[in-house]
Order: sequence, then C-alpha cells, then structure tokens
Amino acid sequence: MIENLEQYDKIVMLKDGSRVLIRPVRANDAEDLLKMFTTLSPETVYNRFFKLRRPFTIEEVEKMTSINFDEEFALVATPLQETELKIIGDARYYVEDKTGAEIAIVVQDKWQLKGLGTAMLQHLINIGREKGIREYYIYVLSDNAVMIHVAKKLGFKLKSQSYGISRFDLIL
Ligand SMILES: CC(C)(COP(=O)(O)OP(=O)(O)OC[C@H]1O[C@@H](n2cnc3c(N)ncnc32)[C@H](O)[C@@H]1OP(=O)(O)O)[C@@H](O)C(=O)NCCC(=O)NCCS
Repeated sequence: MIENLEQYDKIVMLKDGSRVLIRPVRANDAEDLLKMFTTLSPETVYNRFFKLRRPFTIEEVEKMTSINFDEEFALVATPLQETELKIIGDARYYVEDKTGAEIAIVVQDKWQLKGLGTAMLQHLINIGREKGIREYYIYVLSDNAVMIHVAKKLGFKLKSQSYGISRFDLIL
C-alpha cells in the first residue's frame, strides 16, 4: 500500500519567530539538499559524518532523497519565507534490525540553535513510535555539547562511549 506521506507534514515556529515546514523528503529535493550540504561548515560536516569529507555529489544525494520509507525515513526542513536555501535541515533514521533504528541529523549552520534540530528529532520520534520502532540510537562525537544536550532533553540516555564517540539510546 502506498502511504500518504503528507500526513507527516508539520509546521513549526522557531525561537526567532520564523516558520518552517518539516516534511518527508522527496525525490525532487536532491538539488536543494545538495545545496545545503555544500554550504555546511567543516565543523558541522565533522559532527554529522565524523570526518572531513570530499564534496558531496548529486548521485550521493539522490540516494538520500529516493528512499522507500520502509526501512528508512527522512525529514527535511524548508523555511516558509523566501531564503537562499530551500532545505535547511535533514533528519533521518535507518532501521538496523527488527526493533532498532539509527538516527542522524544535520541543521544548516545559519539555522542552528533556533530550535529546529529539537523539533525535527521530536517529530522523528513521534513518527518512529507510530511506525512501531522500539528503539532509536544516535552516535555523537563526545565533545558535541549541543547534540548531547538535545539528545538528553528528548530522553536519550548515554549507552556507551569509546574512541571519542558516544552512543545515546531512546526506548520509544
Ligand atoms: C546538533 C544539531 C542537530 C542541533 O540542532 P539545532 O537546531 O542547532 O539545536 P536546537 O536549537 O534545537 O537546540 C540546541 C540546544 O543546545 C543548547 N546549547 C547551545 N549551546 C550549547 C552548549 N555549548 N552546550 C550545551 N548546550 C548548548 C541550546 O540552549 C538548546 O537547548 P534548549 O532549547 O534546551 O535551550 C545541529 O546543531 C547540527 O546540525 N549540528 C551539526 C551536526 C550534528 O552534530 N549532528 C548530530 C550527530 S548525527
């Protein structure tokens, strides 16, 4: 059965008053997602991918936008006012086994610390619950104070720590 993905659309207001639509990614988002990735600071790339990587290609991003929503789910954030970037955040999970799914998130630098990351993760948690996922986990660099704060605020608990990477778990 083809799922109605629009049911997962959600408009949120950020701390600075701007309004953003959080919605499931679409295949035709590839170019806008690539634009966002190419504007990320090295620090943000490092915190998301744990390495300073070569530039993203359209092929890589197309794989991230053409997903089946069965074993993975991706939300993007798009500002409702006119801005340079159409996509300013990406939060996703990948189902790793029958019950658990790994989460990853990035918010474009100019849009960080306005409440968007928290809102995207909260929405992803609600979607995961609805879809029967029992456990989420996220790997975070141990010095990523902002992500650790957000994870704890959303109920994630520190599960393990090694080689500078912490794993936080949330039972849904
Ligand atoms: C981590 C990330 C997703 C958070 O999203 P965001 O939109 O910036 O975060 P929010 O604005 O929702 O929340 C930030 C919180 O950190 C707090 N904070 C800010 N600076 C902080 C610091 N130095 N130490 C601890 N907490 C801090 C803020 O006060 C806020 O908490 P509050 O809402 O309880 O006041 C975003 O910063 C990002 O994309 N970082 C790079 C990629 C990354 O780290 N991904 C995670 C691993 S996959």
